[in-house]
Amino acid sequence: MDVFRVTGSRPLRGSIQTCGAKNAALPLFAAALLTDETVTIENVPELSDIRFMADIMRHLGATVERTEPTTWAITAGRLTPHAPYDLVRKMRASVCLMGPLIARLRSAVVSLPGGCVIGPRPIDLHLKGFAGLGCGVSIEGGYVHIDGRHLRGADLFLGGRHGSTALGTVNVLMAAVLAPGTTRIESAACEPEVVDVCRMLVAMGAKIEGIGSHALVVEGVERLHGATHRVIPDRIEAGTYLLAGAITGGDVTVEGARASDLAALLDKLRECGVPIEAPRPDCLRVRADLPHTRRAIDVITMPHPGFATDLQAQMCALMSVTPGLSILTEKVFPNRFMHVPELQRMGADIAIEGPSAIVKGLPRLSGAPVMASDLRASAALVLAALAAHGESWIQRVYHIDRGYERIDLRLQKLGASIERLPAEAMPRHLSAE
Ligand code: EPU
Repeated sequence: MDVFRVTGSRPLRGSIQTCGAKNAALPLFAAALLTDETVTIENVPELSDIRFMADIMRHLGATVERTEPTTWAITAGRLTPHAPYDLVRKMRASVCLMGPLIARLRSAVVSLPGGCVIGPRPIDLHLKGFAGLGCGVSIEGGYVHIDGRHLRGADLFLGGRHGSTALGTVNVLMAAVLAPGTTRIESAACEPEVVDVCRMLVAMGAKIEGIGSHALVVEGVERLHGATHRVIPDRIEAGTYLLAGAITGGDVTVEGARASDLAALLDKLRECGVPIEAPRPDCLRVRADLPHTRRAIDVITMPHPGFATDLQAQMCALMSVTPGLSILTEKVFPNRFMHVPELQRMGADIAIEGPSAIVKGLPRLSGAPVMASDLRASAALVLAALAAHGESWIQRVYHIDRGYERIDLRLQKLGASIERLPAEAMPRHLSAE
């Protein structure tokens, strides 16, 4: 297992290109199972989660090949409906294989993915959607068994306690595109990643209206065909690098950052006093090197277009060095504060009150050995370490490799002092392993 050694207090400077969006690429891979023709997906990020998805799909019988560094070709001829626990547990997004399996085979047997450190991750809304489409759904021995012999279009409502569901919407949508009749999905998610999946499905011959809204209407078709699709840029990765520029007092240009996908973050950064520019379409530049005064803010995470839960931890790092009392409230995953105890090890003054983190901004943090717990918490620790005085060691960086392509090398290009080392290189007295 690798660790990062980070020496902080250096402003980041330079330009970085956003990779393809992980949370679009994963369901796009699953959608390729909807046809026996070849689907080519471009701009796929190089991430361990993508490799896990490819492995599961090969197990299901698909041919999944990386034909160029960021291009994958998927051909799903003969498929088996059975996705076992040892593969599914590695990556929760594999639940979105259910929809395509139901559509293609009228049957799916997929393991429940199990726990997740960011809190409970139920799939009741996915299953409610499949049942609404006429499927028989049962859970036996840790597996969801879906009998899709009577699959047909229907009127569905997919809103839950925390609003819409991103993967739930695409999962049900993927079953609906090959279901006879009309399906209406109310309270559908409208995340850019969901829109991207809709666009590829349309390119494959699906009939979907209302794309990008909370009401999708699907006219089922008999079959889909192959297509070539380019994954959208990763708004969360882009937002993380903008926040890295902000927290280090740097000047960072993020190419491929779409302002429309990041409106809530940009609004909060401006409210906070961080200078942000949009020099070109699909490009954002943070000018935290210019004189400015940062102010405490209130952030509430919500489904898109609200503030993304996937940027909450990184924002929390920025707030921990922003004067005043900031409040970050999680309305999507109310327990998603694994980064807080680790930021506290770096001196951050943060109290958790129910679903909120109350952050008292300090002039600076101090480097410390910390432990990565999940993808976005790890990103927050990297940001905090880049801004902290002194040296930090971040353990279990495999979490960050799930969702950020070569973050250490990319940050180095911006002038960061960050090294990837084997765990043995970490002084024993600092290690928590
Ligand atoms: N929910 C239910 N029932 C369901 C499904 C969801 O109650 O059947 C609840 C969840 O517990 C949560 C809320 O609905 O409170 C929203 O969850 P959602 O289903 O939208 O999450 P997801 O689709 O499973 C995706 C991303 C997450 C991201 C969330 C929210 C992927 C692979 N994952 O998960 O990304 O946090 O949407 O935007 O697309 C990450 O990248 O670090 C990550 C965790």
